[in-house]
Amino acid sequence: MRRKLIAGNWKMNLGLNESGVLAKQILGKVKQNILKNADILICPPFISLSQVCGIIKGSGIKLGAQNLHYENDGAYTGEISATMLRSAGCEYVITGHSERRKYFNETNSVVNKKALQALNHDLKVIICVGETLQEREDEIFESIITEQVTMALKDIPSEKMNDVVIAYEPVWAIGTGLNASPKQVIEIHALIRNTAEGIFSKDIAENMIILYGGSVNKDNAKEILSAAGVDGALIGGASLKPDDFVFIAEQAAAVK
Ligand code: 13P
Repeated sequence: MRRKLIAGNWKMNLGLNESGVLAKQILGKVKQNILKNADILICPPFISLSQVCGIIKGSGIKLGAQNLHYENDGAYTGEISATMLRSAGCEYVITGHSERRKYFNETNSVVNKKALQALNHDLKVIICVGETLQEREDEIFESIITEQVTMALKDIPSEKMNDVVIAYEPVWAIGTGLNASPKQVIEIHALIRNTAEGIFSKDIAENMIILYGGSVNKDNAKEILSAAGVDGALIGGASLKPDDFVFIAEQAAAVK
């Protein structure tokens, strides 16, 4: 039985004080009955991780980072290692986000190295995949996503697959207010699960959490979260609004 996961990606928003305020607001609104049926994860900027960790400690809300470097340590000015993330209290880390692929030239092979590094340090990893508008219009999105998933999962030991989450985030739906339709989401989630089944096994694929991300908000969350094969959401803009974020988590917890 796959548990629902609602993850907030705060991206490059909020300083230390504002992060603390938002974490406290979320904490104040999350009722225990939500956490019985769904996991809630927040991913603040690096500088706020340690502070937010202290605020949510013991609440059941989980902490994640938005990126990591694939080396253990060394002369990589400005980078953050998996060990550092663990020391700041992270349980999860996101990799392969389309903003990192686009603005920081992260390739499928870099995403794979980062995923392996996270798993080697006992971090759970959320691997983002998704096609651009051009790739959808050119009708090559299925092969793009299959390749992204296949390359990201390369060399991951099957016993680590419990710690792998995939997020389908069509690039054209991120921050645009245009969410993918339930039909599109169902098709791609099935494609991702089939790809994982081909690499590992039916069992592993059936247990893998697959999130949808891209303009999820309080009004469309219920429909998206009820779609077949959708195990939760990775949320940008709406994760900065405590009422909306917790409302979406409530919707997730209520899905049968
Ligand atoms: P929005 O929810 O703002 O569209 O962002 C989605 C996203 O990129 C989450 O990682």
